[in-house]
Amino acid sequence: MRMSEQRQLSCAADDGQDQEALEIDDDRDSGFGGDDTGSDTTSIASSMLRGHIENGRKYATLRDDYWGPSDDQQFETMDSGHLLYLILNSDHHNMLFRSPVLNPHHVLDIGTGPGTWAIDVADKFPKAIVNGVDLFPPPSSWVPPNCYLEVEDVLQDWTWHYKFDLIHLRLMLGAFAEDQWGDVYRKCYENLAPGGWIEEVELDVRVMCDDDSLPPDSFIAGWGQNFLGCADRAGRSLATQTMMKSKIERAGFVNVQDQLFKCPIGAWPRNKTFKEAGRINYHHWSSGLDGWAMFLLTKFGAPQPWSADEVRVYVAKVRQELQNPKLHIYHFTRRVWGQKPL
Ligand SMILES: C[S@@+](CC[C@H](N)C(=O)[O-])C[C@H]1O[C@@H](n2cnc3c(N)ncnc32)[C@H](O)[C@@H]1O
Repeated sequence: MRMSEQRQLSCAADDGQDQEALEIDDDRDSGFGGDDTGSDTTSIASSMLRGHIENGRKYATLRDDYWGPSDDQQFETMDSGHLLYLILNSDHHNMLFRSPVLNPHHVLDIGTGPGTWAIDVADKFPKAIVNGVDLFPPPSSWVPPNCYLEVEDVLQDWTWHYKFDLIHLRLMLGAFAEDQWGDVYRKCYENLAPGGWIEEVELDVRVMCDDDSLPPDSFIAGWGQNFLGCADRAGRSLATQTMMKSKIERAGFVNVQDQLFKCPIGAWPRNKTFKEAGRINYHHWSSGLDGWAMFLLTKFGAPQPWSADEVRVYVAKVRQELQNPKLHIYHFTRRVWGQKPL
């Protein structure tokens, strides 16, 4: 096969859905690098802003069991993730969510991080009130007047005085233990207006390829399983994407829909949209690796917790592998949306 030939990659997703094939663009030197009314819950104490520093990363103080840092580096990663999903939804009229909510009055974003999704939704629907809630104060210096970014632990009682038309969660994997997920979905159900929608987007931490370009003994190939193991030992599974649909249905939601899609890592796909998505996802991964790895490996690594330096060396090796343009790698992301009965 000529290097410039397009190769069709096919993949049967784990739920049996047919996945769109990603075509490889081999006509490039490297896909990486340079070329390219609020609630009464609002309270931002300075101690919250200082956070808890561990191994050079800043963590929210509201809980000590959440694995992800809340610092500038991780906010940059979250913004890249936001951009990734915008690009992959760029052929949709609404790039922000799939739920058929046309004129929302109240929207809630759980675990809003830097608040980027909530801000975009507030801009798109200026008549809506959009609440974003997170354990850590968002870095955003300006938000639209209809957007409220609040610091709150969603496992505590909710204090909003209105019902929402849409509640959104994205990349909350590993945030909650099994029974806590049930509690969160129950609260979502109770706090949605009749006919309102829940929508959740979660990625699969395992990196895959369809053409054997990823050596099975590579650090990247072992990455997903390594963290699924850590998270299981932590009692907060990272396999959220496999469980969310059934849990959402169990909470009483109807018309539940499920979409599984590939997110390339690196600019290897030929298709322009996937190439751009891959380029951004490379940045998402490259900037995110350290923050994704540090907490879980230093506390729940196998066979025993790793030292911070061991984690840094591991992350450097993974980052180095990611720079190899010959790897045609991707991960899955699953989107589930469902409705509270009228
Ligand atoms: C990986 S980030 C995703 C951020 C954002 N949803 C996005 O897609 O970019 C997960 C966020 O959930 C927040 N989080 C975790 N547990 C939480 C809780 N119990 N209550 C509120 N937010 C929580 C974390 O602080 C973090 O900002």
